[in-house]
Formats: sequence, C-alpha cells, structure tokens
Amino acid sequence: MSLEGKRVVVVGGTSGIGLATAKAFLEESAQVIIASRSAAKLSEAKQTLGGDVEAYELDFRSEEKVTDFFQKVSKFDHLVITAGDGAMGLFSDLPIESAKEAFDSKFWGQYATVKAAIPHLDKDGSITLTSGVYGRRPPQGASTLAAINSAIEGLVRGLAVELTPARVNVVSPGLVDTPIFAGMPEEHRKAMFEGVAQQIPAKRVGKPEDLAQTYVYLAKNGYTTGTTVLVDGGTHLV
Ligand SMILES: NC(=O)c1ccc[n+]([C@@H]2O[C@H](COP(=O)([O-])OP(=O)(O)OC[C@H]3O[C@@H](n4cnc5c(N)ncnc54)[C@H](OP(=O)(O)O)[C@@H]3O)[C@@H](O)[C@H]2O)c1
Repeated sequence: MSLEGKRVVVVGGTSGIGLATAKAFLEESAQVIIASRSAAKLSEAKQTLGGDVEAYELDFRSEEKVTDFFQKVSKFDHLVITAGDGAMGLFSDLPIESAKEAFDSKFWGQYATVKAAIPHLDKDGSITLTSGVYGRRPPQGASTLAAINSAIEGLVRGLAVELTPARVNVVSPGLVDTPIFAGMPEEHRKAMFEGVAQQIPAKRVGKPEDLAQTYVYLAKNGYTTGTTVLVDGGTHLV
C-alpha cells in the first residue's frame, strides 16, 4: 500500500523515535503532521525534517486539546503516537502519585488521542501506538511501566476489533538511544547502554531509525491488525 500523499499524524514527532518516524514517512512521500508540547522542539524538528511538515503544539493528556488538534488537522489517513512519560522505581518506593502521573501520560494520553482522532481518520487508515518491552519482561523497578505497557497492548487488541476496517497496532521498543535519556549523567547512560548491549542478542542498543521502519510497515501492511511488534534486539528473550 503506497503512502504517497497520505496524511500521517505523529504525536511525539519532535524527538527520538517519533522524529525518526516522521522522517521515514516523509521518505515515503507522505504528508506529515507532527505534534508535541514544546514550541522550541517543534521548530527544531520542522527545520530537521524540512519539506511541508505541519507542526502543532499539543499536550496529549488534555482531552480538550486533542479534540481541538484533530479539528485543525481534519481528515487524515494514519496516526502514530510515540509521546508518553513513564515512571521507574521499586513498587514499594514509587509513590502512587508518580505511577498515576505516568498512566495519565503514556496510557491515558494515547487513549484520549485515539478517541479524538477517530472522527477524522480514514476508515481504511491505521493507528499505531507505542508500549515498551518492559510490558513483556520487566526488570526490577519497572512494575509500573510493565502495567502501563500491558494496558496499552490490551487496548490495541480491543480497538482492532472495534475500529475495523481501520487497523490498530502497537510497537514495543527495547532500549533505544534517544533524548529520553538526556537527563541522565553521560557516564551512567553510557554504562547502561554498554551493559544492555552485552546482554541482548542484537549486541547493541536500538537506533530511532530501527523503530521508524516498523511504524511505516504497520501503516503500509493492510493485513496486520491487533498486533504488538517487538523491536527490542531480542531483549524479551534474555
Ligand atoms: N527510548 C527508549 O529506550 C524506549 C524504550 C521503550 C519504550 N519507549 C517508548 O517510546 C516512546 C518514545 O520514546 P523516545 O525515546 O522517542 O522519547 P523522546 O525522545 O523523549 O520523545 C518523546 C516525544 O513525546 C513528546 N511528548 C512527551 N509528552 C508529551 C505530551 N504530554 N503531549 C504531547 N507530546 C508529548 C515529546 O515532546 P515534548 O516534550 O515537546 O512534548 C517528544 O516529542 C515513549 O512512549 C517511550 O516510553 C522508549
């Protein structure tokens, strides 16, 4: 299925996996619309992507804002969501408030965005959400993220049945080198990346481009729906 001229919305398209995904859709000659909260990130992403990319400020945790956003976007063909904050910490230590904040962002943000998108999405279009391998294989301190990612994957199975003929899938990344780790001291980040690379079958951490190709595939493949695609270098096996 060609993506030429198709309108593709990438919520979270200003950084990391979302930015690489916006670029990959542009390379397929799609018309790309990106959205995130920060005006600075939007303008930087527009410069990086070039072309006729439309960019909108959006906090996807607000039902009102996502409704307004899709009214501005109007008719479109494919939705990708990569926005979302998680929360790490041992179950006994992590305050419930922090767990709820993470659900408000990564789970409820994606939920509200899909709900607001439906009236404007082409009936033969697609929706691709984002979870994470901790939903399948949580290390210590990832019980909240395991719950959020599993909830997203469950939601996708239900939506694939309800929203047909539109298709609904979810990409589950392993560790990917993106600005999500920008707040970490460089040495810790490096040690974490090297440690994970040694343990997993792919022997390296992911690049945003590894993931971007998967979102493009899911938009193009008209026979894939209700599926979680793990792009994790084999992390779920070890
Ligand atoms: N990188 C990894 O190792 C990894 C592993 C597993 C799963 N994931 C998942 O993959 C997804 C993308 O991660 P990434 O590494 O690409 O992160 P990233 O580089 O930090 O990008 C996140 C994007 O989401 C936007 N965003 C965040 N909160 C938002 C909100 N409330 N409303 C609208 N936009 C929002 C950010 O822009 P603004 O700040 O401008 O809003 C940014 O464009 C996340 O769901 C993450 O949990 C990542």
